[in-house]
Amino acid sequence: MEIKHVTVLGAGLMGHGIAQVCAQNGKYDVVIHDLDSHLINNGMTMIENSLNRFVKKAAISEKEYKETLSRIHTSVDLNEAVQHADLVIEAIIENLGIKTSVLGKVGKSAPPHTLIASNTSSISITEIGAATGRPEKACGMHFFNPPQLMRLVEIIRGLKTADDTVETVRQVSIRLGKQPIVVKKDTPAFVVNRILTPALNEAVYLLAEEIADASDIDKACELGLNWPMGPLKLLDYIGIDTHLSVSQVLTNETGDPKFRPSILLKQMVRANRLGRKTGQGFYSWPEK
Ligand code: 3HC
Repeated sequence: MEIKHVTVLGAGLMGHGIAQVCAQNGKYDVVIHDLDSHLINNGMTMIENSLNRFVKKAAISEKEYKETLSRIHTSVDLNEAVQHADLVIEAIIENLGIKTSVLGKVGKSAPPHTLIASNTSSISITEIGAATGRPEKACGMHFFNPPQLMRLVEIIRGLKTADDTVETVRQVSIRLGKQPIVVKKDTPAFVVNRILTPALNEAVYLLAEEIADASDIDKACELGLNWPMGPLKLLDYIGIDTHLSVSQVLTNETGDPKFRPSILLKQMVRANRLGRKTGQGFYSWPEK
């Protein structure tokens, strides 16, 4: 099946980057949908800033900058946003109730041929597929932050996902310049987050137990493991709320205590210390 029109739901941290790579690398015609124009404008500003970084280092030309932006359209109306979509990529808040409600509406409004992929970090793809009402046309399409730079996409098969859905989404990922892997069974948090989540939680426990300062915990992983950024800084990038939700899904679904998050993470979410997006997490992020 040929994909020409892609709709991205959510203009946030992941959604704006996914929309950008679809327009920039994939040269797809893209619609970004979010709840209001303020959220969409924020997303478009993030896209322009990111494209400017590519222009500055001559990775793309001024012409490509303009062409990329001209391929991106916006809509605050969900029905309108999906009406011409061949592929919908959902990148909204990591909350089961909200995701299933929005995907149920997409399943009813989108044309029958439309594939629906979710960028969820951890939620069951089988459950997401069921919510769409077209589970054979639904799968996981998990990007990594920042989507403009990270090369991996995990494609996750739900219990009823059809082979050609997986293959089409795999081909789209390759056209985006990504290297896809196929997660053959629907399992909580897939491959990367299942490995990463206990490691990030352990860093938070080390901090909460006052074993070392945040900057030293990060330095340890950067210099001792060659991580590009330490675990606490990475948590600020991912979003404390997103990571907490992934940890909770893993704990609840598997019953395995190794995924249990520190109470410190819950307190940070209650205090709106969500990381870079709210200006404060384990570190302060003054607005540029
Ligand atoms: N758009 C375009 N370019 C960008 C960019 C963006 N959004 N962000 C950074 N860049 C470019 C910069 O311009 C710079 O380019 P240059 O080297 O050519 O000058 C380059 O990327 C490096 O940027 P910085 O110097 O600002 O910062 P870093 O050297 O730290 O690199 C990074 C940034 C690539 C994000 C690197 O720190 C990194 O790889 N961090 C780890 C990211 C990671 O692990 N992500 C996965 C998180 S887990 C996840 O997403 C799953 C989810 O489900 C939770």
